[in-house]
Amino acid sequence: MTDTLRHPPAPRPVTGSAVRFEKIRHRFGATTVIDTLDLTIEGGELVALLGPSGCGKSTLLRILAGLQPQTGGTVTIGGEPVDGLSPRQRGVGIVFQNYALFPHMRVLANVAYGLEANGMKRAAAERRAMTMLERVRMDAFATRHPRELSGGQQQRVALARTLAVEPRILLLDEPFAALDKSLRLDMQIEIRRLQRELNITTIMVTHDQEEAMSMADRVAVLHQGRLEQFAAPTDLYDRPATPFVAGFVGTANLLAARLVVRGEQLAARIGEHGWLALARPACDPGVRAGLARLDAAAQRDVGIPVLLAVRPEQWEARDAASAPDASDERLTATVQLVLPLGPTLLTEASLGDALPIKLTAPRGAGGACRAGDRIVLRIRPDATIRIFAAPAAG
Ligand SMILES: Nc1ncnc2c1ncn2[C@@H]1O[C@H](COP(=O)(O)OP(=O)(O)O)[C@@H](O)[C@H]1O
Ligand SMILES: [Mg+2]
Repeated sequence: MTDTLRHPPAPRPVTGSAVRFEKIRHRFGATTVIDTLDLTIEGGELVALLGPSGCGKSTLLRILAGLQPQTGGTVTIGGEPVDGLSPRQRGVGIVFQNYALFPHMRVLANVAYGLEANGMKRAAAERRAMTMLERVRMDAFATRHPRELSGGQQQRVALARTLAVEPRILLLDEPFAALDKSLRLDMQIEIRRLQRELNITTIMVTHDQEEAMSMADRVAVLHQGRLEQFAAPTDLYDRPATPFVAGFVGTANLLAARLVVRGEQLAARIGEHGWLALARPACDPGVRAGLARLDAAAQRDVGIPVLLAVRPEQWEARDAASAPDASDERLTATVQLVLPLGPTLLTEASLGDALPIKLTAPRGAGGACRAGDRIVLRIRPDATIRIFAAPAAG
């Protein structure tokens, strides 16, 4: 083994863009798993790769780590292409969901292992390992064996072992998936604290949108091997770029509708069920272009096929019996289910054919209703509604 491999250069802190995926493609056999993906991650960021199971998150992480050579495209770390370099040469440390520690080694030896493998003398390696164990608050367990630790404690040791060799980039693949809920929260806080302290660029894979939203500086939403959106958590929620993001991040009611102009205002016809006035529409460029093209008569009569994404908290519901009957700009639905969820009340209401509409309101805000009640739905006047072009038929 050459000297540089035994003693990899001390990792330089990464500044500027830490990781860049350029036109990354990956196929397993005939199946395309990553499809021409571009993504740039800045130094010191914690980025979550979020998406449903099977969308290609782990594959992307393994490509970055050097564990899986990609079919096409280039990965750069700290501005330098790393294609063809081993994981160690890339300065990348990875923690998996079930990162098996060496069962026959005590905690301290587990953490010191990578340092000794890099050529560090045992005494020095153990001193450094102890420092890392202090960092993850596991120094009191240094002489235990992994089987004498809880899952969360084992995961902290795995983290200490990965961080001990000072990777430039920390990769976490569903690191909390095997932990129960309260432990998961502790670990999430712990990782966030460490990540800030060490200012280490971190990429975390998760299918749990709450975890991504609460931990990450920015979230990359993947769907079927494509990047749907890369943005800060609040931007994803407030300005989803696609119907998929609207539905996957938080809850959204996706309603097929026809966009029309009624008077001076935009409104949406929801099939035969009624109308919604849209005071604050946020239309896709495609929808805006469609609106500009159609003449007034066509807009009124036919409308533009769209998909509305309405958050549960963006609805306003009133009892149909007490609602003034005047305008036909109303959408009437039948309550199916009312669930008290802590401080909020979740109501599911049916329009008949489509999926039930979900709406939430603070509990005790009045207007509580029961299954079978008829209610009138409106969009809250202050709510901005995302309007997407309807997917092409077929
Ligand atoms: N070694 C492999 N050989 C063949 N197919 C694979 C292999 N690894 C993953 N896949 C497939 O690639 C797709 C993406 O997998 P993966 O990146 O593990 O998804 P995720 O981590 O988002 O759940 C899945 O359809 C999976 O079945
Ligand atoms: Mg995975």
